[in-house]
Amino acid sequence: MRAGHHVVPHLAGSGGLTLDEEEMKSWGRQLGAASTAPLVIALTGELGAGKTTLAQAIFSGYGVTEPVTSPTYTIVQQYHSPRSIAYHIDLYRLNDVAELTNIGWNDIVAERALVIVEWPERAGDRLPDAPLHIELAYVAGDPVRRLLLAG
Ligand SMILES: Nc1ncnc2c1ncn2[C@@H]1O[C@H](COP(=O)(O)OP(=O)(O)O)[C@@H](O)[C@H]1O
Ligand SMILES: [Mg+2]
Repeated sequence: MRAGHHVVPHLAGSGGLTLDEEEMKSWGRQLGAASTAPLVIALTGELGAGKTTLAQAIFSGYGVTEPVTSPTYTIVQQYHSPRSIAYHIDLYRLNDVAELTNIGWNDIVAERALVIVEWPERAGDRLPDAPLHIELAYVAGDPVRRLLLAG
């Protein structure tokens, strides 16, 4: 069993779910509520697919009450839950893998924290071994729903 696999709400692992925005948020809150640190969640998907929307819901379910913004311009945002520190990392604007060192990547991924990473593919081989992978995709012809694959 891969890390974090046990916390994925039902059905997502078997062929995916197509969820509207409220369903996506509800799914994310369930995942957050079931999550225990340390856990790294790697969120992939095109711009606008819903990665930040899902991350906000996961953090909410995890107990973060601070407003969660889009971290694009800062790369790393730190939040607090009664359960642990939580990090939201958006690697979209990372120019080079070497920049990970400057943002404290090595320490963050080794911490007992919940870490959600958007654009994780930009971390190359510095992504930890067994993150929980979640992929979001647009659904052709349906502006309201997104496809979610997890686990
Ligand atoms: N089913 C859905 N799930 C998530 N977001 C959705 C959905 N349908 C529409 N949206 C909208 O799509 C946008 C997704 O933006 P965002 O979460 O910032 O994406 P990303 O971080 O992947 O670039 C938001 O404006 C959100 O309201
Ligand atoms: Mg985003």
